Amino acid sequence: MLSNLRVLLIISGGIAAYKSLELIRSLKAEGAHVRPILTKAGREFVTPLSVSSLAREKVHEDLFSLTDESEIGHIRLARETDLVVVAPATADILAKMNHGIADDLATTALLATDRPILVAPAMNSRMWENAATQCNIANLKSHGVMTVGPALGELAEGEFGIGRMAEPAEILLAVEAVLGNPLSGVRALVTSGPTYEPIDPIRYIANRSSGKQGHAIAGACARLGADVTLVTGPSTEAEPLGVSTVHVETARDMLRACIDALPVDFAICAAAVSDWRPESVHGQKLKKGQAAALPANLRLVENPDILATLAVRENDRPKLVIGFAAETHDVVAYARAKLASKGCDWILANDVSAETGTFGGDHNKIHLLTRDVESGVGIEEWPQSSKRDIAARLAERVARVLGAAA
Ligand code: CTP
Repeated sequence: MLSNLRVLLIISGGIAAYKSLELIRSLKAEGAHVRPILTKAGREFVTPLSVSSLAREKVHEDLFSLTDESEIGHIRLARETDLVVVAPATADILAKMNHGIADDLATTALLATDRPILVAPAMNSRMWENAATQCNIANLKSHGVMTVGPALGELAEGEFGIGRMAEPAEILLAVEAVLGNPLSGVRALVTSGPTYEPIDPIRYIANRSSGKQGHAIAGACARLGADVTLVTGPSTEAEPLGVSTVHVETARDMLRACIDALPVDFAICAAAVSDWRPESVHGQKLKKGQAAALPANLRLVENPDILATLAVRENDRPKLVIGFAAETHDVVAYARAKLASKGCDWILANDVSAETGTFGGDHNKIHLLTRDVESGVGIEEWPQSSKRDIAARLAERVARVLGAAA
């Protein structure tokens, strides 16, 4: 989260300016205050009205605006911020930044600021590869200016090459890396999604888990600077940015991948691991006529418990082992029992009965149970929120406990 952090966002004139609208939305969703500056060329691509509507702030455009100067002034604009982001950063603005040219509000603010600067270059690949641009960017970097992108891809002119502005999600990650990474240097393991337990080459036992919560947690931990390994069962969720993702199918594969990821500082088991698997897997597809044989063929055996295994590791137990308790009734009572039986430190208990729509849905309601040697079990009620918000809250909670110690 970027709660209450201030970002001065300079939008210069490139076609990628439309993506800056999405960047404003994402920065705001993370709690940042965004103060926008739109250059004259930027105004050709996005309107001040759309920028100010999303930022919920006045758009600053003119160096010589009497009202702006009397209200805030370009020097305060440059200084009253935690970070200056230039997205898109055209070849022109990079050249001006490198040479100290201050001929409009954006370049004046860039020259006057004493805050960190992050630029997201966006231009045609020839312009990017031009020696002048490369020299400008190298100089700016040597003066401490940070960059994100550009990426390889299709460019506005229909050409293909390097020059596409980094996606807003990637810029957000870079902003978070600069402004708030309390989990920097901390290693994390997150499990997510269902597991598939094969019956024969085409059939399997599975569950309705989507992987949304686990993937959101992995992303939230990475945004706070953690080095995250996500071990996931089959899921259609996109791999979170900045996370190493390991794809597995069965519970036993998931356990192996988790053990391979050790040592870590904390582990969050959000996967809905199948409790059982068929005792034997048929090498060939079972035929319709073989139904009579199925009860015997489908004898189930219990899968290893990944959370409980991690919680009792002798030499490489993570400092914090966190599990979920998916219950359809008596949520807190069952969660309390799981906290004890699995030997983990925290349990996030949630009601997954069909009417809540939690399993596979976008929202969740959490009771956080924490185990403290001295004060016993503590219970916090979290309000019903999106899985993304729950992930951010959990990552921050972990950061408060581990970040300071890292
Ligand atoms: N878990 C695990 N490995 C398993 C089963 C569960 O790591 N084989 C983890 C889950 O990721 C979750 C916690 O244990 O963090 C609780 O999972 P849950 O499905 O609620 O409980 P179970 O242990 O399966 O117990 P029950 O089915 O009796 O509720």
